[in-house]
Amino acid sequence: MHGPRKGAGLRLHQNGRIMTTTHSQSAPAPGKVYLVGAGPGAADLITVRGARLLAEADVVLHDALVEPEMLALCPQAKLVAVGKRCGKHSSAQHFINKQLIDHARTHRRVVRLKGGDPMLFGRADEELRALEGAGIEVEVVPGITAALAGAAALGRSLTLRGVARSVAFATQSRAPESAEIAAQASADSLVYYMGRDAAQRIAGELIDAGKPAGTPVAIVEAATTPRERRALLSLQALRDGAASSWFDAAQPSVLLIGDVFAGANAQRISRCTAQVAREAA
Ligand SMILES: C[S@@+](CC[C@H](N)C(=O)[O-])C[C@H]1O[C@@H](n2cnc3c(N)ncnc32)[C@H](O)[C@@H]1O
Repeated sequence: MHGPRKGAGLRLHQNGRIMTTTHSQSAPAPGKVYLVGAGPGAADLITVRGARLLAEADVVLHDALVEPEMLALCPQAKLVAVGKRCGKHSSAQHFINKQLIDHARTHRRVVRLKGGDPMLFGRADEELRALEGAGIEVEVVPGITAALAGAAALGRSLTLRGVARSVAFATQSRAPESAEIAAQASADSLVYYMGRDAAQRIAGELIDAGKPAGTPVAIVEAATTPRERRALLSLQALRDGAASSWFDAAQPSVLLIGDVFAGANAQRISRCTAQVAREAA
């Protein structure tokens, strides 16, 4: 908690006169909130600025995807878990917004630590608007997003001269419009966040929208953490369910789709168990 601030008195212009007040007469000003990108997982993949802010924070409100090693960077701070994971414990977004505002009113430096980059699929905008609406100063500190960490793990560039000149970061957690699918299919390299449960549907819709069935698909799970796994298959195999038993539902994963992933550094998956059984029958 911070009370009246130290230092010289505030100078206020009132009726043309300059008045000097002491801080003990004024209400404590709200603290500042930093929306900090934690990066994809590894504690040393946060930015230098992000790590400094963590080390100086009074309170850190963090996501479920933030690794415990990263929280060791702020031993002095009060930690508040506000994670939202599909199908797991979740704090409603409005409650997170309220917690941010309440903490900023009682603490000087509040860090909102969000996985990857705070501005990608992280509902940062709702937090920004809520804080701005409450008159609280906010600063955004970018982070390495999962798509970039995934491509690095695969040793493949998302752009490649003569092969890939456009990249899309997408999600399809809800049934998409066909125009949306067509736009996504037209990107040379395509990365789906939160796509595990809809992976077969996504693959089918991309093929129906004109993406060649043989297009390579890489899956990177828990990128940059000790639990990282990588798989490589075709869009057709993904559609057929070949990756369904490969996924670990407890880990986050991205689907990276495009010709640049051919031959990527990953475990090959060719056909799903059900298909093998059908062929053997
Ligand atoms: C709510 S989104 C947040 C994305 C985050 N803001 C970012 O920039 O990476 C969560 C999704 O990001 C992806 N993700 C996050 N961390 C990941 C990791 N280490 N490896 C693979 N995918 C990850 C998964 O698709 C996960 O379901």
